[in-house]
Amino acid sequence: MTLGSTTTTQHAYGEPAYWDSRYRQDPGPFDWYQKYKTLAPLLDLYIRRSHRVLLVGCGNSTLGEGMVGDGYQDVVNIDISSVVVEAMQQKYQGRPEMKYIKMDVRDMNGFESSSFDAVIDKGTLDSLMCGHDAQPNAKKMLEEIGRILKDKGVYILITYGDPSYRLRLLKDLRLWTINMHVIDRMEKTPELRSWELTAPLPINEDGSSVSALLGGNPEVHYIYVCTKDDSLRKHQ
Ligand SMILES: C[S@@+](CC[C@H](N)C(=O)[O-])C[C@H]1O[C@@H](n2cnc3c(N)ncnc32)[C@H](O)[C@@H]1O
Repeated sequence: MTLGSTTTTQHAYGEPAYWDSRYRQDPGPFDWYQKYKTLAPLLDLYIRRSHRVLLVGCGNSTLGEGMVGDGYQDVVNIDISSVVVEAMQQKYQGRPEMKYIKMDVRDMNGFESSSFDAVIDKGTLDSLMCGHDAQPNAKKMLEEIGRILKDKGVYILITYGDPSYRLRLLKDLRLWTINMHVIDRMEKTPELRSWELTAPLPINEDGSSVSALLGGNPEVHYIYVCTKDDSLRKHQ
């Protein structure tokens, strides 16, 4: 499933009311793009089990449960939809390690600056980019993520957006250095996968090196691993 395929749905995906109504009708669980199992080798590469991790726009995805089940000790989930947050709190009643908070990713003042080692975003920047004021909202979201990450912490963005749509937005903030990974859209057995998930692709200034390597309409999701680097801001 892809976010933003038509104008009507583009608008809807950017509206919190759309998500409340969707989660009321369809309690899930549902994972956009990829599940924990397929992403696990990449997360293992960048995140330690002791790290404090934030899943932004968690929905009713099983990613948090997968990570906690695999030994990640401090995973916090946030979403703007009170419907889904209450449902997840109910689902994991009696399991204090499953943490769900209603919060807007554009305004995370409930979290201190430099308090997370990693932030994972699977489809949330994409959904903001479908709504009204897409660019300013995306900028607010990314600046907030930059604020709550520790220096050398990672923002892992899993998206359908290729570098021509996402790279400039990420780079202009001068918050982080970027590694690029890709993963096949369809679940394939490891022997049949076209791309090695844990091997970063070479990425030049405008990202054209990635498109050149992948060819036209590649059936992949893009994963931008943004490592916060405080020295980039000092040099502005
Ligand atoms: C495409 S869904 C992805 C859900 C989940 N991450 C997954 O991978 O299955 C986008 C999610 O972002 C949430 N969301 C949208 N705008 C948000 C905002 N401003 N702050 C926090 N969450 C938001 C929606 O409620 C929805 O759960």
